[in-house]
Amino acid sequence: MKVLVVGNGGREDAICKKISESSKCTELFCSKGNAGTLRYAKNIVLNSNEEIFEFSKNNNIDLVVVGPEAPLCEGIVDLFSESNIKVFGANKKSARLEGSKNFAKEFMKKYDVPTAKYETIKSKEEGIKAIESFSYPIVIKADGLCAGKGVRICNSKEEVLEYFTELFEDKIFGQEGTTVVIEEFLKGKEASLLCFVSKGNLIPMESARDYKRIFDNDEGENTGGVGCYSPSELFNDELKLKIEKTLEKISEGLKKEKLDYSGILFIGFMIDEEPKVLEFNVRFGDPETEVVLPRMKSDLLLAIEKSLDGTLKKEDLKWKSEKCLTVILTSRGYPKNYEKGKEIIGIDSVDEDIYVYHNNTKVNGSKILTDGGRVLSVTGFGNTYDEIREKVYKNIEKIIFETKQYRKDIGKN
Ligand code: AMP
Ligand code: GLY
Repeated sequence: MKVLVVGNGGREDAICKKISESSKCTELFCSKGNAGTLRYAKNIVLNSNEEIFEFSKNNNIDLVVVGPEAPLCEGIVDLFSESNIKVFGANKKSARLEGSKNFAKEFMKKYDVPTAKYETIKSKEEGIKAIESFSYPIVIKADGLCAGKGVRICNSKEEVLEYFTELFEDKIFGQEGTTVVIEEFLKGKEASLLCFVSKGNLIPMESARDYKRIFDNDEGENTGGVGCYSPSELFNDELKLKIEKTLEKISEGLKKEKLDYSGILFIGFMIDEEPKVLEFNVRFGDPETEVVLPRMKSDLLLAIEKSLDGTLKKEDLKWKSEKCLTVILTSRGYPKNYEKGKEIIGIDSVDEDIYVYHNNTKVNGSKILTDGGRVLSVTGFGNTYDEIREKVYKNIEKIIFETKQYRKDIGKN
């Protein structure tokens, strides 16, 4: 089977590694990939869905696996629908579960999926009225993808009004930010659950916990995620049962609304007394993928094929009992401004039981250079998080680049 993976982050590095381990994979490409994906795939630069389609036709690709949300929201799956090339991912209609916060909330409300109370507004005036029925902190979410930066948690009316001005008057996210979801603030602990979607049926993978803030003790700005571990310690039998009920409701909704795609649904939960859904993504999470896929014993390509046929079952997915933890090395300054192009040394000197996924790196001659905010995911396995933490942090010392920065508290407590 000839496979093309779309994307260039740590998630795609982990997907490529896992697919390359399948006996069914005969040739693997990654667009555009990074210095890590080169270990098991041929990197190729394709700049649009149309270029991906042309390349796939001309190179007899059998399967395209899409990493990031943008190509899905832009309709890559629909573009391939008339061809006999399979694409694993949500079609344009289903991708609205991620691409529109309002669409996702309406879906949850309709199918009784536990979530935060909300109201949707389309102007500053409507917003000023709506916030009267919420208390503080209050969560304000611009509707569209907004490069993942549309959510703001406000502690006062002044902060809300300031954000409304940015959204409706300054139009910082253009049209994407002129529909806005106002949400009740939920207390609790977050957990991520990636699920295969097999024609609308949901088959969960193992849970994970992502660290979103840039600094230790969850201080500083929100990022794409700078550390992660799997499984989440919150997922005991009681919680799993509750989540199973939520998954049934989501699955019923997917089928009734004809959002019955084959791909991934990433569910962000806030867990307090009851698990509530914070968000949907229609793709693998990053860095969740870097800790969930290494724990998967089953063949990923086989799971993807079954999911595309609509026959994937929970029993098809087998998991290792060991835990997995990753710490992301970032470029100093991320998530704001940072420098790129710094030489990285020491990746090959890590211990045998440590794996380094590449988030944003590139090759320059014989050198590997930093190429983005998140650079490398240093990943380890073990029976306890304390044991893995010790190994991972010891190995982080061996990897050197000028702008290296990382959290010291991943997996603590
Ligand atoms: P989202 O993109 O909707 O997941 O929001 C990004 C982050 O904002 C989440 O991972 C949470 O940390 C936080 N967040 C979003 N919605 C809420 C909420 N209703 N209550 C508390 N925190 C939230
Ligand atoms: N780790 C969160 C995300 O992938 O959106």
